[in-house]
Amino acid sequence: MKVNLVVNGKHATVDADPAMPLLYALRDDLGLNNPKFGCGRAQCGACTVHVNGVPTRSCVTPVGSTAGKNVTTMSGLGTAEKPHPVQAAFIAEQVPQCGYCLNGWVMTAAALLRDNPTPSDAQIRTALAGLKCRCGTHMAILRAVKRAVTMIA
Ligand code: FES
Ligand code: FES
Repeated sequence: MKVNLVVNGKHATVDADPAMPLLYALRDDLGLNNPKFGCGRAQCGACTVHVNGVPTRSCVTPVGSTAGKNVTTMSGLGTAEKPHPVQAAFIAEQVPQCGYCLNGWVMTAAALLRDNPTPSDAQIRTALAGLKCRCGTHMAILRAVKRAVTMIA
């Protein structure tokens, strides 16, 4: 079945079983490799994208359920030349170790700061709860999100 999406502002059509995870459509059909397959069970957040602006775990989201919706991946947030403030802050704080988890933190933090540009530490921690980093970069991530807040202000 053909599923029509809007991905990073462009129309895209995927020929797939509508029950197939959105993550597979993004990575395998559309070549968008920022969202990662971590757990495949909505437990880690590595696969996070925005669907109509809402951080969404694409590993458990049927592609058919996103027909006609706006999907944003990390490459839709910013570019190397013009990074999103969250991306720029993660670079400035040298957050990544292996980098595998990075997509989930950046996408989730970007949605938080869009909705609440001046979050408290507690609000940041709440928004990021449930994301996993096996390299233990959590404190650097908090610093980066707080740096992004100052960049947006
Ligand atoms: S891969 Fe989707 S939440 Fe872990
Ligand atoms: S930087 Fe390696 S899993 Fe987070």
